[in-house]
Amino acid sequence: MTQQDWTKVDDYMVGALLAPDPVLNQALADSAAAGLPAIAVAPNQGKLLQLLAQMLGAERILEIGTLGGYSTIWLARALPANGRLVTLEYEARHAEVARKNIARAGLAAQVEVKVGAAVDLLPTLSGPFDLVFIDADKASNPDYFAWALRLSRPGSLIVVDNVVRGGGVADPAGDANIRGIRRMFEMIAAEPRVSATAVQTVGSKGWDGLCMIRVLD
Ligand code: SAH
Ligand code: DHB
Ligand code: MG
Repeated sequence: MTQQDWTKVDDYMVGALLAPDPVLNQALADSAAAGLPAIAVAPNQGKLLQLLAQMLGAERILEIGTLGGYSTIWLARALPANGRLVTLEYEARHAEVARKNIARAGLAAQVEVKVGAAVDLLPTLSGPFDLVFIDADKASNPDYFAWALRLSRPGSLIVVDNVVRGGGVADPAGDANIRGIRRMFEMIAAEPRVSATAVQTVGSKGWDGLCMIRVLD
């Protein structure tokens, strides 16, 4: 099986199951026009994040890694009227694109985009968050997991994107990103307050995976 096959099936499933969404499509188009990398979650992955947030009844969501706000919009649409999402982004240029996309989605009042290195912003936040989506620089995943746990409550869910990276995660001699993912897995395994799994995915974004961590009651 090749990337072409995975993309064909993703395109089919997105077409079959997801309603056409001009606001989300425009968010991707404007992100591309502004020169942002095309690394947002796939539509069917965004929908998964939204379903998870809805299942949790999430009212407070934290996202680490905004890019153009594509996953942000999927997640924020799951919020009730009084719900709030905070998203952290290092690149001011990305945050600017994201704010426009979020405003066009009618979510500006519920979403706050904070600009800076996530490790500097996280200590300024007050939890608890019901759902944390970790999707920034993978080398810092150990720090992000520790902060997500600190900012959560029993029953919170932490979702981490890109934990497989084309199979790289299984290589103990991987680069800084792989080492960050593997160190995070070690922390999760040693942490009695959580229950976790990770699954591989193939699709329009290649061979990758998601880690899901539930904070125990
Ligand atoms: N969640 C987005 C994709 C995020 S891509 C989506 O699916 O739509 C990763 C983002 O993390 C990039 O915009 C990058 O600039 C940002 N990032 C990288 N290092 C960071 C850091 N140290 N702190 C905060 N954001 C960072
Ligand atoms: C990259 C980052 C992501 O968050 C992603 O989903 C895919 C790729 C990257 O930095 O290459
Ligand atoms: Mg990602």
